[in-house]
Amino acid sequence: MTTRARITLRTATASQAAKLHALIAANREEGRLLPRGLEELTAHAERFVVAIRARRVVGCAELAPLSSHVAEVRSLAVDVGSRGYGVGGMLVDELRRRARREGFEKLCAFTHQPGYFIQMGFSIVPHLWLLEKVFTDCVHCPLFRQCGQYAMVVPIDATYESIDRETTTVAVRHA
Ligand SMILES: CC(C)(COP(=O)(O)OP(=O)(O)OC[C@H]1O[C@@H](n2cnc3c(N)ncnc32)[C@H](O)[C@@H]1OP(=O)(O)O)[C@@H](O)C(=O)NCCC(=O)NCCS
Repeated sequence: MTTRARITLRTATASQAAKLHALIAANREEGRLLPRGLEELTAHAERFVVAIRARRVVGCAELAPLSSHVAEVRSLAVDVGSRGYGVGGMLVDELRRRARREGFEKLCAFTHQPGYFIQMGFSIVPHLWLLEKVFTDCVHCPLFRQCGQYAMVVPIDATYESIDRETTTVAVRHA
């Protein structure tokens, strides 16, 4: 059976920090996501875009500034039951729009799954092209210089479509 489900994107609020925390924790191992503390999620909730389906937070992603030029996609996660319907793509698209509005020149991601980002226009680059990340995070990481993550970048194109697509309806199959 197929039903239509409305997905709405919103800026997260501090009151949703526990939901962000739970969603990231549930997907942490699979996505090798960085652990996130409730306190920092509460403090930076407004950097997150959340995908809401039937009043539930089913996806999230953070636009984390690394410098005035570069922002990073962090903590991208979609609940298992809402995958494959474009929610992850909507979240990344929305971060691109926000990055453009906020004047960033590049959006980057550090991931073990380059294929997902390549289909969204990102390219693999040497880590040293993102010195902001290296000096902010990598130097403190126990896996510094032995990191299995790919550094990925997409330029923030000023012509990138700016249509506000904060709500969309997706077809969801039920067994
Ligand atoms: C990765 C993730 C966010 C994708 O969410 P989603 O809502 O299912 O994504 P979308 O619906 O926008 O895209 C699905 C498409 O991406 C593809 N895809 C998913 N993971 C992929 C990967 N690792 N490599 C290549 N393609 C991938 C799917 O095959 C699908 O392709 P199709 O549209 O041709 O069928 C979700 O699987 C997730 O939360 N995973 C666990 C956490 C994680 O891995 N986060 C990213 C770490 S950087």
